[in-house]
Amino acid sequence: MSYRNWKTLHEDCQACAKCDLARYRTHMVFGEGNIHADIMLIGEGPGRVEDETGRPFVGPSGQLLDELLGGIGLRRSDVFIANVVKCRPPGNRDPKPEEIEACFPYLRAQLALVKPKIIVCLGVHAARLVLRRDVRITREHGSVHHVKSFTIIPTYHPAALLHNPPNKPLAEADFQIIGQEVRRLAADEAQSGDGALLRQ
Ligand code: URA
Repeated sequence: MSYRNWKTLHEDCQACAKCDLARYRTHMVFGEGNIHADIMLIGEGPGRVEDETGRPFVGPSGQLLDELLGGIGLRRSDVFIANVVKCRPPGNRDPKPEEIEACFPYLRAQLALVKPKIIVCLGVHAARLVLRRDVRITREHGSVHHVKSFTIIPTYHPAALLHNPPNKPLAEADFQIIGQEVRRLAADEAQSGDGALLRQ
């Protein structure tokens, strides 16, 4: 289904019971940020604090995400943040393939409405879903892919970095690559007179 506006998309997500995750949720976590952003970050799924608040990346991994964004001069208001699944998998288990597929039309609709130029996949689930193939983050983090009109960059999930802090510098280096892509696209747009990148 294609959505022409956020309101109906949000209402459908709110009422969604397409998979078992709906039974356990306190809040559906729709995603938030700048709906005109040129950068969309896609995480895995809400954790405990996100389920309680209905907002993405507000728990400990959200603090780390803010730090990584800040390292390249971006704030949350510069990006849109979404997740592979909009309801918390119980006990923070991985989302199941059928849950990911059930939720994908909503994410696809968000991509169609935001129309980001850069998609940052936070972790393996987002990377596999967006690139539609098997991905190993340890091998492909920081790589730049061009698919249709999108520039896609997989990187570590912030929660994985909290579990394994020695990988944090690798993620920081990935974000430098993301920053370079942001600047490259901004320069291209300035040259073509469009100038939309990082618009507020
Ligand atoms: N982890 C995610 O993948 N998404 C969130 O929103 C929070 C934590």
